Amino acid sequence: MKKVNIILFGVGNVGSTLIDQFLKIRSRWTAESGIRLNIPVIANSGKALFMPKGIGENWKEDFDKNAEAYKLEDILEFSQKHQLENPVAIDATVSKDLVLDYPKLVQNGFHLVAANKVANTLSDEFYYGLRRELEKHKKHFYYETNVGAGLPIVQTVQGLHQAGEKVIRIRGVFSGSLSFIFNTFSESEGEFSEVLKQAGDLGYTEPDAREDLSGNDVGRKLLILARELQLKKEFKEVKIQSLIPEKLNGKTSTEDFQNRISELDEIFEKRKKNQKKNHVLRYVGELKVGRGSLEAKLISAPRESALGQIKGADNIFEIYTESYGEQPLVIQGAGAGAAVTARGVVCDVLKLSQRLN
Ligand SMILES: NC(=O)c1ccc[n+]([C@@H]2O[C@H](COP(=O)([O-])OP(=O)(O)OC[C@H]3O[C@@H](n4cnc5c(N)ncnc54)[C@H](OP(=O)(O)O)[C@@H]3O)[C@@H](O)[C@H]2O)c1
Repeated sequence: MKKVNIILFGVGNVGSTLIDQFLKIRSRWTAESGIRLNIPVIANSGKALFMPKGIGENWKEDFDKNAEAYKLEDILEFSQKHQLENPVAIDATVSKDLVLDYPKLVQNGFHLVAANKVANTLSDEFYYGLRRELEKHKKHFYYETNVGAGLPIVQTVQGLHQAGEKVIRIRGVFSGSLSFIFNTFSESEGEFSEVLKQAGDLGYTEPDAREDLSGNDVGRKLLILARELQLKKEFKEVKIQSLIPEKLNGKTSTEDFQNRISELDEIFEKRKKNQKKNHVLRYVGELKVGRGSLEAKLISAPRESALGQIKGADNIFEIYTESYGEQPLVIQGAGAGAAVTARGVVCDVLKLSQRLN
């Protein structure tokens, strides 16, 4: 029997869904894969719950009652003291500070699984430094959910590349919120600001929708994919078209922006009207491998095309390679949401566990 100990950082949307999925699946893993999963530590930004024998169904009450203030060193000491076998640190936070501690975790025997994209979008120096550390300590790092949430994008691109397939271009709609906004706006008679509000009410956008409209999230995902293909790129090299007019950017507060979103209507109405017949708006990411260009932008696509046909908040990834020729390999589906993202993390942990001796 192989024992795997999970140290979970981040018990928010994804983290708490993940715990529930782990608790449901673990007896099956024991029976079918010989893996005994234990979750001895769960932590948010201020407090951690330490239970050497692992959390159970009452983890929320236990956390509320018994979680205590902690530092990373407390977790490292706890792991040493209880001689945790195969410790795996899962990052379900949005924290850069935790990412900066990844090398320390690796040096102390931890494998890594991250939903948090930060580690793969920091400088080239950090990116390759972390990989050297992982290699030195023979530790693994999985991060499938960094792009397309639960969709198998990272593993597909990695697999094609490692198998010697020449990836030529990757294009698609990489953001669930921007997907919803333009899929809905392209088909509706309503104003852009109404669609934006609807996206907020459904929980698709961040509290300040400018984080979505900036296109930065699409830019980060492009960078992650480019690095999988061994392109040496930095975030500042990604060409990103922001959808926020300059007058609403910069010093405008979230509340001001919210009160003035109708100022976006004319801009996007014009953009919609100025398209060819049977075309729709889509915010896409595009990576051209040969040229080394990474670009996020608003385009007009034929309604009948694969891009033009996506619905709801779906993501779509078209992967053009030498063998697939003009007809790309296409992966499409929900690219956001706690359930699919947590499931992607569970898959990462399973794959990692299967590689352990
Ligand atoms: N939701 C999705 O659809 C989706 C899809 C793909 C990837 N992701 C990624 O998954 C991650 C989690 O997303 P989420 O929606 O679950 O976010 P969330 O609901 O905001 O939860 C974040 C959690 O991280 C904790 N946290 C923050 N800094 C921490 C630190 N230094 N150490 C330990 N815990 C810390 C927060 O604790 P406090 O409450 O104490 O601040 C909170 O519990 C993000 O990186 C996100 O980009 C999400």
